[in-house]
Amino acid sequence: MLTALVLRYLRPYRRPVAVVVALQSITTLAALYLPTLNAAIIDDGVTVGNTAVIVRLGAVMLAISGLAVACSVGAVFFGSRAAMGFGRDLRAAVFDRVTEFSLAETTRLGPATLLTRTTNDVGQIQALAQMTFTTLVTAPIMCVGGIAMAIHQDAGLAWILLVSVPVLAFSNGAVVIRLLPVFRRMQTLIDGINRVLREQLAGIRVIRAFGRESFEQDRFGTANAELRDTATAAGARQALLLPIATLTINISSVALIWFGGKRIDAGAMAVGSLVAFLSYFLLILMAVLMTTMFLTALPRAAACAERVTEVLDTVPAVSEPPDPRVPAGPVTGVLECTDVGFGYPGAEEPVLAGVSFTALPGTTTAIVGGTGSGKSTLVALLSRLYDADAGGVRLDGIDVRDWPTDGLWAALGVVPQRGYLFSGTVADNLRYGRPDATEEQMWAALRIACAEEFVAADPDRLAMPVAQGGANFSGGQRQRLAIARAVIRRPAVYLFDDAFSALDVRTDAAVRARLREAAADATVVIVAQRISTVVEADQIVVLADGRVVGLGRHEQLLDDCPAYRSLADSQDPAVAR
Ligand SMILES: Nc1ncnc2c1ncn2[C@@H]1O[C@H](COP(=O)(O)OP(=O)(O)OP(=O)(O)O)[C@@H](O)[C@H]1O
Ligand SMILES: [Mg+2]
Repeated sequence: MLTALVLRYLRPYRRPVAVVVALQSITTLAALYLPTLNAAIIDDGVTVGNTAVIVRLGAVMLAISGLAVACSVGAVFFGSRAAMGFGRDLRAAVFDRVTEFSLAETTRLGPATLLTRTTNDVGQIQALAQMTFTTLVTAPIMCVGGIAMAIHQDAGLAWILLVSVPVLAFSNGAVVIRLLPVFRRMQTLIDGINRVLREQLAGIRVIRAFGRESFEQDRFGTANAELRDTATAAGARQALLLPIATLTINISSVALIWFGGKRIDAGAMAVGSLVAFLSYFLLILMAVLMTTMFLTALPRAAACAERVTEVLDTVPAVSEPPDPRVPAGPVTGVLECTDVGFGYPGAEEPVLAGVSFTALPGTTTAIVGGTGSGKSTLVALLSRLYDADAGGVRLDGIDVRDWPTDGLWAALGVVPQRGYLFSGTVADNLRYGRPDATEEQMWAALRIACAEEFVAADPDRLAMPVAQGGANFSGGQRQRLAIARAVIRRPAVYLFDDAFSALDVRTDAAVRARLREAAADATVVIVAQRISTVVEADQIVVLADGRVVGLGRHEQLLDDCPAYRSLADSQDPAVAR
């Protein structure tokens, strides 16, 4: 999984990676050649007292070292560039996929883990990719080359290599295998910390108001302690690696000098050869050590790659149709619901069942019903945030699942129940609705939404700053800006999900009156709790427990729909009578 991911996203960086491989190979080969030169200086120069040889070979050594340094600087430079580019591309790919997700996927995975996966997890994989450039080139060349050169110096000591290299490799392998599950758990726990933190930051007012600081501190503390314990467990295992390596290296070095000294005594080996052998031996073990470091980063990156791949491989439930259909002319806005049934994933009871109605252009359809009766769910189905399980929704006679998603969403102006404003300015938020909106269009939309006054009163006017989520506005102001954002699109279909709930009765009526004028030809669907909001609607759909229990105009429903009458009664007995 990790390999597939790395290969795929590293492909655009073939060239810098090739340069890194070349430079790294030169550096390694130079490192391999130096001990042989050193041996020659000792045996042919120092031992026999030949200064000319010492100076000549010394100069060569210096030149080769210089080359190695230059190459290794270049390798780091290109390696970093490639790795950073790789990280950026992978992050972008995850982000692009997440933006395609429908509500179903975002709810299933949750924002906390999606955040960690896009940042921390990608970072781990990126770090590993960078390590790969150096380790995967250097380690094999160093190991094989080192063994060959060492045997070339003196075959009689090679058996020490045969013992120490496998000992080091196997002990490291045993540790690394045990690390993988710990790292997998660690990434999940980082998700957990993020989740608690996000929730606490978002709910800070509630936490204060209910005096729950210490409870929340405990909750965070628990998540934090769990992460600490797991990280400590991982660290404890990782910490074994270096002592094992050092111990093996030191014991074998002692053995080497012991047995090498004996061979020199016996006249079977030159002093320079032993020095060179020892250098090669250290190079070989260094290669094994490098591989070990790489292997410790590997399990964590592998766990991250699994998580990132899961995101990349998730097919959004709401997706572009294979052969989209578009209406011949401009969208007129005939919205038909036929026998719509829907249940949330994992829930036993369906939320909607057998919902049918038709909303026509130039008319207003109101949807009323008690809280939890499925109104917002119905709006989500109409705007294809979810797909219906049974029946279907058609716009202009074409099933919404056959519409090109861009075309469908361009035809809709949605004001969700919890209108979200983005940080920036009022104008930026209006451009969400229509990217090329002129100032006149913006003011016109604000006027319809009764938001003109408070925006005009601000010294910055359209450049009035908006904090993240619209936190610097009152609930009603936020709703009116969200209405203006939908109105500025001049869509064929307006969907208002309880979009007037935070407005006082007079503003509510004013917005609706202006809307009726501005959207005279459009299809308007209004979800509302207040009866006064819906009395003038051309048809009212009464929902109870996800079923349509009444359909008609206000007076008619008062007569023949008990559910509607009791709703009206509870709010304004005068209207009901
Ligand atoms: N994302 C979700 N996952 C699971 N169940 C959900 C989800 N959203 C809503 N529900 C359930 O679906 C039912 C209908 O919810 P919905 O939001 O459509 O109600 P509503 O009529 O809009 O209520 P309100 O008037 O309070 O806004 C509720 O019982 C709720 O528990
Ligand atoms: Mg709702």
